Amino acid sequence: MARTAAPRIALATYDPGPRVNHDRDLPVLVEALREAGADAVALRWDDPAADWAGHDLVVIRSTWDYSWRAAEFVAWAEKTGEATRLANPAEVVRWNTDKRYIGDLARAGVPVVPTDYLAPGDPVRLPEAHEYVVKPTSGAGARFAARYTPDQRETATAHVERMRAEGLTAMVQPFVASIDTEGERALQFFGGRLLHASRKGAVLAPGTAYDAEKTAHPDLVPWTPTEAELAVAERALAAVPGRPELLYARVDLVTGADGQPCVMELELVEPNLFLWLHPASLPRVVEAILTAATTG
Ligand SMILES: Nc1ncnc2c1ncn2[C@@H]1O[C@H](COP(=O)(O)OP(=O)(O)O)[C@@H](O)[C@H]1O
Ligand SMILES: [Mg+2]
Repeated sequence: MARTAAPRIALATYDPGPRVNHDRDLPVLVEALREAGADAVALRWDDPAADWAGHDLVVIRSTWDYSWRAAEFVAWAEKTGEATRLANPAEVVRWNTDKRYIGDLARAGVPVVPTDYLAPGDPVRLPEAHEYVVKPTSGAGARFAARYTPDQRETATAHVERMRAEGLTAMVQPFVASIDTEGERALQFFGGRLLHASRKGAVLAPGTAYDAEKTAHPDLVPWTPTEAELAVAERALAAVPGRPELLYARVDLVTGADGQPCVMELELVEPNLFLWLHPASLPRVVEAILTAATTG
């Protein structure tokens, strides 16, 4: 009987340079995939020597340096998606790397944090009656995000202009006050089902400069999602244009001004899985990746 070759799976990560790779899931996942019989490797997405076509499946995992190279990254995803199977698919990457997707979700009726977009050249509109957040449409790890009170208009305007000078569009949102007490809930989906959920603390402290380095997921603890949170997360996933097949997704929710959950971020590109916090989830992740590599 012919022996089936081990599925070849590449996990795409980033180049940490002289620092350690912050992706704690990565070594655990590579090891578990190998134990399950796969030929699994972690590769830098921008490694010019990487043979993406030589893999049955490329899973985007921790390409965490893409947010200031978004166009290059989307081009890589499109090329890789033509050469082999890419999860999530390139069209999802294209849509989800630009946070104007929050506007698309809002138009589809999904509750989201209210968002105003300031493209280069737009007049700078900033709230005058309440605290607000300014952040870029291409961002991760709270990079270039800061919160302001109305009397900080000058600093906030400089922040907007600094981003727009780099060609970025700025987003302005009311500061979601509940985050300081209730935090943010991250509902993680894998292989089409809820995998696990976590709660994290607030990232933006008053007065922290936009270019300061922040802790992206502070005080993380396991969380049991409420019915309302699950319903909003599922509505967000159902609103992804073209309803593509998603290997993984993370929906970050906060409690909005109406007391109901709303979407802060829909992370379909490179969500941290927090497997170190949810070790029991590992077998399901491995199984879903193997299934994606060997079927369809
Ligand atoms: N409107 C907001 N109100 C309160 N906190 C916010 C708001 N927008 C962002 N933050 C804080 O900044 C963090 C990063 O923002 P987010 O939109 O999730 O971008 P990313 O995680 O891609 O950098 C959030 O996890 C949250 O703690
Ligand atoms: Mg986030």
